[in-house]
Amino acid sequence: MTATQLPVGKGKAQMVEAMFNRIAPRYDLVNALMTFGLDSWWRRRTVRALALPSHARVLDLGCGTGDLCRELSRGGYRPIGVDVAAEMLTHARTAAPLFRADVLELPFRDGSLDGAVSGFALRNVVDIAAVFREAARVVRSGGRVAFLEVAVPGSRLLQSAHSLYFRRIVPLIGAALSDGAAYRYLPASTAYLPAPAVLMGMLGDAGFERLQRQTFSAEVAQLLVGTRR
Ligand SMILES: C[S@@+](CC[C@H](N)C(=O)[O-])C[C@H]1O[C@@H](n2cnc3c(N)ncnc32)[C@H](O)[C@@H]1O
Repeated sequence: MTATQLPVGKGKAQMVEAMFNRIAPRYDLVNALMTFGLDSWWRRRTVRALALPSHARVLDLGCGTGDLCRELSRGGYRPIGVDVAAEMLTHARTAAPLFRADVLELPFRDGSLDGAVSGFALRNVVDIAAVFREAARVVRSGGRVAFLEVAVPGSRLLQSAHSLYFRRIVPLIGAALSDGAAYRYLPASTAYLPAPAVLMGMLGDAGFERLQRQTFSAEVAQLLVGTRR
């Protein structure tokens, strides 16, 4: 799948919801295999970057099967999960309250939460800037956000290795264990992500300050962190 074949708008939203409903039963297994278990470490770094007081109420946007919710609980926070795919929520393994909702229309009052996180959800939504604005609406002033996503390495050599692995090997793992089309789409959907400077600009425009970006594991993952103004 090339960038020009990727769906947009309502078509994307419908495709994403149906796809995650389909792959939910084996999502955790395939995730752990294709990242060599690094995804757990990246989530731990995401929760640590929040640096909020314990018992802070933190929303997990696109919580899926609840991995970040569990990590938030381990970090002493009170997580709440939101996801649009009912099957992902059905397969969730977390004690956190979970809501089926669109992250673009969160069922929470303005400033009612201490923080928000997301893991690999940004590239799946129709409008990333709108997610940042919605997070800014529900997070109180001084609250913190941490968005974890995939990234593309800067160097040519790493880019080639990254492309070989994500565009050739990951779809094979996905086809063998889950759904070939979904695991062709997920690596290709990296193309939805704007350049780092643009993403950081969107966060600032949405109402966040003290912005930081770090990358993990040879730049295959990135973490964007900010404080609500
Ligand atoms: C790649 S999965 C990540 C799941 C989990 N956060 C993790 O770290 O493994 C992306 C999740 O975002 C959800 N998602 C995509 N678009 C959404 C939207 N507009 N509103 C709510 N959830 C959405 C999908 O259903 C899916 O569960």
